[in-house]
Amino acid sequence: MDRIMIRGGNRLNGTIPISGAKNAALPLMIISLLSPATLTLSNVPRLADVRLLQRILQNHGIDIMVAGKRLGQDGMSGDIMHLTARQIADTTAPYELVSKMRASFWVLGPLLARCGEARVSLPGGCAIGTRPVDMHLMAMEKLGAEIEIDGGYVVARARTGLRGAHIRFEKVSVGATHAALMAAVLARGDTIIENAAAEPEIGDVAECLVKMGARIEGIHSSVLRISGVTSLGGTEHSVIPDRIETGTYAMCAGMTGGDVLLKNANAAHLGAVIDVMRQAGIDVDAVNEGIRIRRNGAALRPVKIETAPFPAFPTDCQAQLMALMTMASGTSTIRETIFENRFMHVQELARLGADIHLHGDTAEIRGVRKLTGAPVMATDLRASVSLVIAGLAAAGETVINRVYHLDRGFETLEEKLSACGADVTRQAG
Ligand code: UD1
Repeated sequence: MDRIMIRGGNRLNGTIPISGAKNAALPLMIISLLSPATLTLSNVPRLADVRLLQRILQNHGIDIMVAGKRLGQDGMSGDIMHLTARQIADTTAPYELVSKMRASFWVLGPLLARCGEARVSLPGGCAIGTRPVDMHLMAMEKLGAEIEIDGGYVVARARTGLRGAHIRFEKVSVGATHAALMAAVLARGDTIIENAAAEPEIGDVAECLVKMGARIEGIHSSVLRISGVTSLGGTEHSVIPDRIETGTYAMCAGMTGGDVLLKNANAAHLGAVIDVMRQAGIDVDAVNEGIRIRRNGAALRPVKIETAPFPAFPTDCQAQLMALMTMASGTSTIRETIFENRFMHVQELARLGADIHLHGDTAEIRGVRKLTGAPVMATDLRASVSLVIAGLAAAGETVINRVYHLDRGFETLEEKLSACGADVTRQAG
C-alpha cells in the first residue's frame, strides 16, 4: 500500500489546476445508461472511483473509450470519455463492485427507466455512517416500480414502464435526488421532485440530460419538474470543476500561508466556504482564471460553522476546515449535521498535536501553536486529506498510510502540491 510523506513548514506559492468534479463525473457517466447514443464527457478526472465505475458500467454492456489529455495542455485537464450504451447487456450490479463505491448504487434508476428492471446490490457499510438508501427506494416506488430485497440485492421491476409521480423527500439527499431525476426523465408523464438537493453537481447532470433531450425545469433549485420523454440522444458535456478539491487546496494554502491560484475553480459553487475562509483571515478573490488564495503573516482566526446541504457549508469540506482550525488563535466549533459518524479524522489529527473535543455532533477545536509530524492513517476520502493539510503545517515528517482513500478523490495530489513548493512525496507500497 502506498504512503504519502510530508515535511511540513513550506509556504505554498504558485498555481494548482482544479480537476473535474468527481461527484459530477460519476452521475454523468451513469446517465449514459439512459440512451443508446454516445455521451461524450470531457474534463473527466483521473480517479480510482472513475475507473471503478467504468468497470461497473462495462459490466452492464456500455462501450467506453477514454482519450487522455495531459494536465494543463491547452488549458484543459482530464480525460475525454465516450460512453455508448447501445444495448444493456446485464441489469445486475454485483455486490463485489457496488460495495466498493456507494455511488454505483445510482445505476438503479436509469436501469429501471431504460429496461424496466434492475438488480442492484445494497451498498453496505461505510466509514462515515449508516447511509441508508430508503429514499432512493421510495422514489422508485412512487415512479411505479415494485421493489423487493433478495439476498442483499434490491430487485426492482416496472413491467409496463415507469410513470411520472409527485416525490417529496423528507430530507435533502444528493443521491436520492440523482436517482429520482435519472429515472423520471424517461417515465411516462410529469414528475415533481420536492425538497430536491440543489448541489451544483445535480445541476450539471440535469443540464447534460437536457442536452440529451430531457425536459427538466427548476434546474439548480429545490423543486425539479420533469416531463418524461420516450428516448434520449447523445451529447457532449464538460464536467464542472471540483468544488471540494478547490476548497481543499484553498485550505492547504490558508494553512501554510502563501499565494496560490486555483485555476479553473468556480467561486459561485463555494460561497459558504469562501465566507468562512475570509472570517478566518484568509484573502480569497474570484479572478478570471479561477480563485486566488493568500495569507501573508496574518494569524488564523477561529470560526463557528455547521454543515448543511448546498448552498451552506459542505460536509465534504468539514474535515479540511477542522485541520485548518487546529492552528487558529482561539476555539472553533464545527457541527456536522449530514453524517452521524464523520469525525474519524479527530483522533488522527490529535496524533499531530491537535486539541479537539467531541460533544455529540459538534467538535470543539482549540487552536494550538504547533503541530508535530507523526505517522497517521487515512480513514475516508475527506478525512485523509485533512491529514495532508495538517501535515503541511506540522514540524517534521508526517507519514499518511492507506492513501488509496485519497486516490479515490484527488488526482495527482502530491504533484499539485509539490508544484507550489510543498515537500510531499509518495512511496509505492
Ligand atoms: C453525496 C456525495 C458525498 C457527500 C454527500 C452529502 C457523491 C458521489 N457523494 O453522497 O460526497 O458527502 O452527498 O453532500 O456525490 N440518506 C437517507 N436515506 C437515503 C439517502 C440518504 O437517510 O435514502 C441520508 C444519509 O444517510 C445522510 C443524508 O441523507 O445522512 C445525506 O446523504 P446524501 O446526500 O444522500 O449523500 P450521498 O448522495 O450518499
